[in-house]
Amino acid sequence: MSDAGTLPGLGADAAEHCERLSARIRGAIADAGGWIGFARYMEMALYEPGLGYYSAGARKFGEGGDFVTAPEVAPVFSRCMAGQCAEVLALQGGDVLELGAGSGAMAASMLAEFESLGVLPARYLILDVSADLRERQRATLVAAVPHMLERVEWLDRPPDGFEGVVVANEVLDALPVDRFAWRGGEARALGVTASAGGFEWAEAAAGPALAAAVDAIRCDCGADWPDGYVSEVNTGLAPWLAAVAGALKSGVVLLVDYGLPRREFYAAERTAGTLLCHFRHRFNDDPFARTGLQDITAWVDFTAVAEAAEIAGLDVVGFTTQAHFLIGNDLAGRLQDVTGLDLVQRVNLSRQAMVLTLPGEMGERFKVIALAKGYDAPLRGFAVRDLRHTL
Ligand SMILES: C[S@@+](CC[C@H](N)C(=O)[O-])C[C@H]1O[C@@H](n2cnc3c(N)ncnc32)[C@H](O)[C@@H]1O
Repeated sequence: MSDAGTLPGLGADAAEHCERLSARIRGAIADAGGWIGFARYMEMALYEPGLGYYSAGARKFGEGGDFVTAPEVAPVFSRCMAGQCAEVLALQGGDVLELGAGSGAMAASMLAEFESLGVLPARYLILDVSADLRERQRATLVAAVPHMLERVEWLDRPPDGFEGVVVANEVLDALPVDRFAWRGGEARALGVTASAGGFEWAEAAAGPALAAAVDAIRCDCGADWPDGYVSEVNTGLAPWLAAVAGALKSGVVLLVDYGLPRREFYAAERTAGTLLCHFRHRFNDDPFARTGLQDITAWVDFTAVAEAAEIAGLDVVGFTTQAHFLIGNDLAGRLQDVTGLDLVQRVNLSRQAMVLTLPGEMGERFKVIALAKGYDAPLRGFAVRDLRHTL
């Protein structure tokens, strides 16, 4: 699966950056007695202040970066998302809170769409762990919707008593995950140790939290994993969702990401898990290469999202594929409305729709889950196809 051997080389600055972060991680490994869990490694590689992939200045998003996301590749995605938010805001009022706003592309397109629909919320809040990205988001908004900047507010922590809609695209896949290997009928933690060339995988006894999580997954799926089966568990998901639920007084949370219901995620045939790294639009399966310079992600177990949401006091009010969510939010109507677009722009719009909806592209791999507190009206994005029974 890895194409690491053929990836473009690094410049001196990048190599030095990578070495500084690697030295910091080696320090953490030494402090911990020679071994850390993979989630700790992933957390430092992505979010170590000033050095991690999302905390430092790498370009990351878009054509000049490492990967593209739906809002980057297709503004019509964000327009449909704005339509879904508008339906909720019309009924219950409130603001929009975007978690993990990346380059700010979705915020810019959504604000423009709210304006054209005549339903601008008073405030568009952004909460992102990356201080570096905050500047990038501001620059995107200044360039695209300067007159709406006064509505945008950057938060350092979840708000209190938020009412409205919370949106997060491709944030869950960026939360650190633990890894395990199934050996001799028990879970072993797959962690990280320092090696001469950098880092390498090393197994250790699973701690109580990981062992319990793997047990619960096996009970739920009834999976018969082969010896050596490897997968991931997102033990940080429940606290993350609890914080989101704690911030919400009433409204809807819409989470979009690539992932699967648990039975498919942990199917016995998926023997190597879902961990994937992105560097300059190529993927590889080596999280120890180019530490701090490449993205590290894992697919989302949406059953775990639903369970954690319910424990946190949120109702699961919808689950569907990205394609069906967009169709429910009038993707077709937006494609037909080509007034003022030249031929190239029309072709581009059709291309965007294909990337977003085709099963071989983002259409089925990406799912949308809707969680709600004190909101029980139907959501149009889940009217075409509701897959909650698969969770
Ligand atoms: C893969 S990027 C997606 C960016 C953007 N939503 C998009 O679709 O283009 C992940 C984003 O989530 C942010 N992030 C990661 N963990 C977070 C957390 N716990 N809370 C808020 N933002 C987070 C990262 O800084 C980054 O902006």
